Amino acid sequence: MKIKVTRTPETGTRPKDEDLGFGTVFTDHMFVMDYDMEKGWHDPRIEPFSEFSLSPAAMVFHYGQAIFEGLKAYKTPEGKIQLFRARDNYKRMNRSARGLCIPELDIDFAMEAMKELIRLEEKWIPETLGTSLYVRPFIIATDPFLGVRSSFTFKFFIILSPVGAYYAEGFNPVKIWVSKSHVRAVRGGVGEFKTAGNYAASLFAGEMAKKEGYAQVMWLDALEQKYIEEVGAMNIFFMIDDTLVTPNLTGSILPGITRYSVIDLARKWGIKVKESKIGIDEVFSAHEQGRLKEVFGSGTAAVISPVGEIRYGDRMIHIGDGTPGETAMKFYDALTAIQYGRAEDTESWIEVIN
Ligand SMILES: Cc1ncc(COP(=O)(O)O)c(C=O)c1O
Repeated sequence: MKIKVTRTPETGTRPKDEDLGFGTVFTDHMFVMDYDMEKGWHDPRIEPFSEFSLSPAAMVFHYGQAIFEGLKAYKTPEGKIQLFRARDNYKRMNRSARGLCIPELDIDFAMEAMKELIRLEEKWIPETLGTSLYVRPFIIATDPFLGVRSSFTFKFFIILSPVGAYYAEGFNPVKIWVSKSHVRAVRGGVGEFKTAGNYAASLFAGEMAKKEGYAQVMWLDALEQKYIEEVGAMNIFFMIDDTLVTPNLTGSILPGITRYSVIDLARKWGIKVKESKIGIDEVFSAHEQGRLKEVFGSGTAAVISPVGEIRYGDRMIHIGDGTPGETAMKFYDALTAIQYGRAEDTESWIEVIN
């Protein structure tokens, strides 16, 4: 399929790197493609970023048949543009598509579309270490129909947003709050898919955590409310004695690309990794026994986020001395060095696109 390109005559200006936040500024163009039962995915095009119209009855507004991805394009010191494990994001998107009865994408074609859009928007990629161009592919159900079934028509978009350094104020540990009253996802449900409803379902507990002065919610499993699943938009790791423990993927946890990368690097570095059920009580007792050395989250936005405090009802623990742990730091440095082209890509995770 040939991608039709319509350029906008009015191009915007990228804010200064130090003024960039997250997800508020968008580039000049977007990629769009339509799906119907007869033609499949068709009419791929790059067009000016703008509002678009849909029927108020479009199914996405009512029944939430929507999936998305999030990844970043980085500028290297030599001016190369590179993507980190982008194909894995599309593989995950196709798994989400299957889970939500959405037609899958041809990954090679979707990669081409992403690259062509990013190349066209090169001037929007910030250059300072820590900044990047956030890439948001998403698919929505567009049938104008009020009734619960899978849509027959869909739209696929890719939009781009220059984003600032996550750690502009320093690589500081965050405080997290374990929800006792709410759960994010249940086994057999859609927790392992990147679908809009999972995020809507997380909002109420997120607000509760914020009111208590915590940055993120740590979710427990929905069946027994004992086992740790994930944190906000991150997967979670615990260094207990000399073993890195992370919850195994049970179906209700989003399989993070950063999570896989941490596990791969840890194994390569000779760190013992255990993917298994881990109870919140186990974490508190490991802390009491002085065996809980570090806790950190992993995700595209922050890469690695050290955790300094966990609150669970009336119980609270402080991890470390208020500064990031050594292991968290090591993963952060190694992953960002690969992403920004400052270290050799020994794992073949990078695709250079210019
Ligand atoms: C719920 C959830 N868990 C975990 C992650 C981390 O995934 P990744 O490392 O692919 O960004 C994300 C972010 O995409 C997320 O939204």
